[in-house]
Amino acid sequence: MTRIASVLLVALLIAAPVAAQTVIESNTPLRDRDVIFVPTREAVATAMMKLAGVTADDVVYDLGCGDGALLIAAARLGARAVGIDIDPQRIKEATEKVREAGVADRVTLIRGDIFDPSIEIREATVVTLYLLQSLNQKLMPRLKAELRPGTRIVSHAFTMGDSWPPDRTEQVDSTRVHLWTIR
Ligand SMILES: C[S@@+](CC[C@H](N)C(=O)[O-])C[C@H]1O[C@@H](n2cnc3c(N)ncnc32)[C@H](O)[C@@H]1O
Repeated sequence: MTRIASVLLVALLIAAPVAAQTVIESNTPLRDRDVIFVPTREAVATAMMKLAGVTADDVVYDLGCGDGALLIAAARLGARAVGIDIDPQRIKEATEKVREAGVADRVTLIRGDIFDPSIEIREATVVTLYLLQSLNQKLMPRLKAELRPGTRIVSHAFTMGDSWPPDRTEQVDSTRVHLWTIR
């Protein structure tokens, strides 16, 4: 490499934006998770983003983010994404996968409990869930009290039960995705 080329390369490396990733350890004590980890497949993640109409203007919160599949799908659309998971191993995996996907600058990961009120969710414009119906129902008061009107909630497979039917449901391969909008 010529001297000029090496000087240019060094200058480019210095000027390149550093993809900073934020990983936060909350004060939530370690405890057993409420549901096991099963990742959302890419086709389903894409369908969830489409159903919620995610754009670069959105802030997407995945409650129980696992290894970050939904965060990556949201960040690839230009959205800012925040993932909360109680399991430190999942946060470690998500940190790695988000970095590999090249979207670390748009993703924040929080090791904590989705039921811990000190972890705020009110800035979300979209909330994604892949939990269980019983957990969705347990979250319902929090979602209704804290999310602002117009915020969309999209859930992989599970509904909120009869008391809060989804506004829309779509079939994706062998599963369903459900959408609610906060009024
Ligand atoms: C079925 S996985 C879904 C992962 C991811 N959202 C996805 O769709 O690919 C559920 C995740 O919720 C996490 N989890 C379970 N109970 C939790 C709680 N109380 N607070 C935060 N995360 C929890 C588990 O560790 C697991 O990673």
